[in-house]
Amino acid sequence: MTSESSALELRGVTRAFGGHRAVDDVSFRVEPGTITGLIGPNGAGKTTVFNLIAGALRPSAGRIALGGRRLDGRPPHLVLRAGVARTFQIPRPFAAMTVLENVMLAGQDQVGECFWTNWLRPAAVAAGERALRGRARELVEFVGLGALVGAPARVLSGGQRKLLEIARALMTAPRLLLLDEPAAGVNPTLMETIAERIVALNRTGVTVLLIEHRLELVMRLCRPVLVMAGGRLLAEGDPDTVRADPRVIEAYVGVGPRHGPPHPPAAQGAPAEPWRPSGSVGA
Ligand SMILES: Nc1ncnc2c1ncn2[C@@H]1O[C@H](COP(=O)(O)OP(=O)(O)O)[C@@H](O)[C@H]1O
Ligand SMILES: [Mg+2]
Repeated sequence: MTSESSALELRGVTRAFGGHRAVDDVSFRVEPGTITGLIGPNGAGKTTVFNLIAGALRPSAGRIALGGRRLDGRPPHLVLRAGVARTFQIPRPFAAMTVLENVMLAGQDQVGECFWTNWLRPAAVAAGERALRGRARELVEFVGLGALVGAPARVLSGGQRKLLEIARALMTAPRLLLLDEPAAGVNPTLMETIAERIVALNRTGVTVLLIEHRLELVMRLCRPVLVMAGGRLLAEGDPDTVRADPRVIEAYVGVGPRHGPPHPPAAQGAPAEPWRPSGSVGA
């Protein structure tokens, strides 16, 4: 597959809510094989971009394509089938179900869903279920939740829920994974695990589009970085170029405490601080 054939491309994408353009004429490409960062102050429109790509929302204008094939207008399950999976900013696992069951559920539309198959070919369904369970177990191990495979999801910490979300998203074997603030509110140890898993995943060929407020993580993992503010794409480039862009600094400094991002000290008057890269990928 050529890189042209599997890039994600947004062209002139706009989404208005009432009179407010949450996403305003946004165009960018996510090249296959990259970990592309998407940053910007709260309310910039980042999650709305994910909702538009994933089919949860329809654009008011513009096109979204994967490998040259239109995604916009498709319902979420068809976007998923096209190879795009996403995690949510606020994970909502089924609290009473086990970690394993939560992950299995994310792959359920692949087997045993058809009444007639269940009724006519129970052996095939049982085999499908075994395969599903095996894959779910592997993914639980992959995200580092192996010890909790049989535990109810309600006992998981915030960070562990983020990891569970990643495992769930991987059940459909996506080629593009949209991660919405996977490290928000996560302790430093688990954040390292999440960073490591993202890099490992990317090495297996999965393209990642990462929204993250922890800029040190973005600077470390992402090439390139896209910056949004006020619904628009402000800047795009490698981390060093982007952090030196006056429009980007302005966007972060210009937001008041009510709208400011929770982590970057830029909002507290030290714009240079959050932009310092820390360490190298996989270190
Ligand atoms: N479903 C919705 N209805 C109305 N306004 C929305 C909706 N979703 C998002 N918005 C608005 O769109 C803007 C961008 O939100 P969002 O995409 O969540 O920003 P970010 O993820 O960058 O913090 C915000 O002003 C938000 O209030
Ligand atoms: Mg958001």
